[in-house]
Order: sequence, then C-alpha cells, then structure tokens
Amino acid sequence: MASVLIKNAQIITMNAGEEILEGDLYIENDRIMQVGGDLGYAADQIIDAKNKTVIPGFIQTHIHLCQTLFRGQADDLELMDWLQKKIWPLEAAHDEESSYYSAMLGLGELIQSGTTTIVDMETVNHTDAAFQAMAESGIRCLSGKVMMDMGENVPDLLVEDTTKSIQQSVDLLEKWHQYDNGRIQYAFCPRFVVSCTEELLTAVRDLSKHYQVKVHTHASENRGEIQIVEMQRGMRNVVYLDQIGLANENLILAHCVWLDDEEKRIIKERGVKMSHCPGSNLKLASGIAEVPDMLDRDVNVSLGADGAPCNNNLDMFNEMRLASLIQKPHLGPTHMDARTVFRMATIGGARAVGMENEIGSIEVGKKADLAILDLYKFHTYPSSDVDPISRIVYSATRADVDTTIINGKVVMEKGEVKTVDKDIVLYEADKSIKRLLKRVPSIMKV
Ligand code: GUN
Ligand code: FE
Repeated sequence: MASVLIKNAQIITMNAGEEILEGDLYIENDRIMQVGGDLGYAADQIIDAKNKTVIPGFIQTHIHLCQTLFRGQADDLELMDWLQKKIWPLEAAHDEESSYYSAMLGLGELIQSGTTTIVDMETVNHTDAAFQAMAESGIRCLSGKVMMDMGENVPDLLVEDTTKSIQQSVDLLEKWHQYDNGRIQYAFCPRFVVSCTEELLTAVRDLSKHYQVKVHTHASENRGEIQIVEMQRGMRNVVYLDQIGLANENLILAHCVWLDDEEKRIIKERGVKMSHCPGSNLKLASGIAEVPDMLDRDVNVSLGADGAPCNNNLDMFNEMRLASLIQKPHLGPTHMDARTVFRMATIGGARAVGMENEIGSIEVGKKADLAILDLYKFHTYPSSDVDPISRIVYSATRADVDTTIINGKVVMEKGEVKTVDKDIVLYEADKSIKRLLKRVPSIMKV
C-alpha cells in the first residue's frame, strides 16, 4: 500500500456543491480517502501545501501526441493546407522511435502543466510506441490509432486498406484497453469524415458498441472541410454522422465550430460530447465555436489544446483563458465566467469520457488525479476576498503547477516531471524531427 498526505491546503473540490475546503487530503493507493480537516494519519509521503491550492487534474479531451514533434513546423496555415502540405507528410514520416519521443515530449508538457487525463489521437502507424510512452508517463488516457482509408493529397503511407485499419485498431485495443487497471483505455479514432469511407465509419460504430469504447473524431472545424463533406456525402457533417448511427453518447467530437441548428439539436439529443479547442480554432483561423449556446442547450462541452503544431502549446491554462475571453467581445462580459470554464476543464472532461464517478472532482472514493498550485506569487495576489477560481482561470499560469498526482502516484514534484526524463526527451525530440524532415521530400513526391 502506498499513501500520500497533503497538509494545510486550499482544496477546490468541484463536487456537486463546488465546495472549497481548507485542510488535508489523504490518498491510499489510487484513491482519495479523506478530504478536509486536520488529518493525523501517518503516510509514506507527506506534502506540505501551506499557501497552495489543490485542484482536480485537468482533463484535455482533444490531443494529438504524435504531432508534438511538429511544433513550429506548420504555422500560419488553414486546416486543409495545414494537413495536406505539412501534417500528413510529417505523420507519414514517423518511425517507431519518433512516435515514442513525440508522445513523451507532449506528455512531459501535459503533466508539468497539471493535465492528468487526455483523449488522444495518434497517427496511422507506430501507435504501439505511443501507448508505450503513455504507459511509462503515468498519464490517464483514452487513445487510438487514427483511421483513414480515403482522401486527396494524402501520402500513400497514410492511406489504409479498410480491413487492415480495422484489424490494426482491434489488435491495439486488445493489447492496451484497460491497461494498468483501466488507466489506459482504447478509443477508435476515425480522422474525420473527409478521410473515411462509410464502410470504415459503420465498422467503427459497430466495434465501439461491441467493445463499449469511445469514438474520438473531428467534425465541422473549418468551412472548407464542411464543403468537402457536403460534396462527398450530400449533407451536413453532423447530420451524416447521425444518419450512419455514429452520433451517440460515446462520440467525442472535436471542434464543432460550424454547426447549424439541426446539428446542434442532434448533438444534444444523442448525447454527443463536444470538445472545444479555442487555441487551435484561432490559430488555424477556423472560427469561434458557439460554446455558450451549446452550454445553454445542456450539451457537455470540455476543452483540449489539439496538437502542438496548431496551438502551439498543450497548456490548459491557455485554453481556459481563451475559452472565456474569445466569447466576450460579441456576447458580453458575463458569458463564459471563470467557474463555467473551470467546470469544462475538470468535471466536464470527466463526463466527456464517461468517468464522472471516478475523476474530475476531489471527492472521497474517486481516483487521486490532482494538481497542486503554488499561487504565492505576485501575479496571483491578492489572495484574500477573491474567488479562488477567478485566480486560477484569469491569473494563474502553468508555471504555477507545483505537483501533479495521477492515479495516486506523484508524477511531478516541485516542477520536475519524474516519469519523463527531460534531457533525454528534448535531445531525442530534436534528433527525431531532423530525421523526419529529411524524409518529407520523398514522401511529398509520391
Ligand atoms: N482534422 C483532421 N485531422 C486533423 C488534425 O490532425 N488536426 C486538426 N486540428 N484537425 C484535423
Ligand atoms: Fe485535432
């Protein structure tokens, strides 16, 4: 048995009453056992959190670890050019080692900035190496290989035979789903309608039902993408997903920037989970998702940074700040207040992955997935008579994350990630991207 006692903290629980407590928090193995009060337990590790704030670990519901190595390689482009000219050739150039270090680089950044759960989408090949990295890092995740069996200007290495794509996905699922007591889960990841035949998408629908796993895909991010879908399938994106039976409570849809009223109604009625990526949507000039309208309709909206080359960080503090600020100029300052955004970053993410009884808030019996913030800083003061959640959403930054605990394990302490070796990963990241960039010209020619 392993135990951790956090002493003298401010605890932002995000439980049903959104209580903020003062005192201690006791963890045994992977579970939160006691919250609040002065706990006199002995523990294997005692963390003094005087002047510190404990929050539920952030849950990012749209990430591409396979793209972390491409940070800074694809700036200032719109979605389809970004994919066709930069991202697809680079993904095609990946090898096992580069996939592993791309994931490790992203995981180091995520853990260091207080993210404890991710919904990830890998590339077509070498997904096993990425799962290996996720296993070693200690992150909680849902991930899968991307599936793509059609499309224009896609390198040969990424266009899959439909049957093979399905078989490889199932093989990965059988190897990794429920690894480490369910810390890792498999999710089917058809890239987006533009990349997938109907045969592939309906197979994914049946498999996700059969294995009871999530489906993670992109939809209605960009107007050009929607035009392609309308030309190919003769209807709007989300209407199509619904018609083939994919729109259900197990579907996590990234972006949803351009939805008409019918599509919004489908998302609500079918219980589809929307993942909002404000940083990516701004940088790729995709647009501003109508998040306040979706929240008014009682749709579950959570947050994600997307991939490093369209953001260019994987930092939930950035996403929270943007999610709030981008709505205010056209809707007014009361929309997307700090509490609404903080809910999306924590319990909203937990609902998106169907784990609201396990993660997303600090409650006895839940998994110990936490971040400890050091807000004893110039930029987060004064501390008295101020809403602690306002401090976190509007003033704090990722440099304020002191400790990250996932599944009861201290994976980052005093700013240092213990499960990802910084020097090795940064060195290998540079070496890997150099190698991939050398391969790109020959990939672009075919
Ligand atoms: N749509 C299809 N693939 C991608 C991707 O890799 N990133 C983003 N942002 N949108 C996509
Ligand atoms: Fe994406």
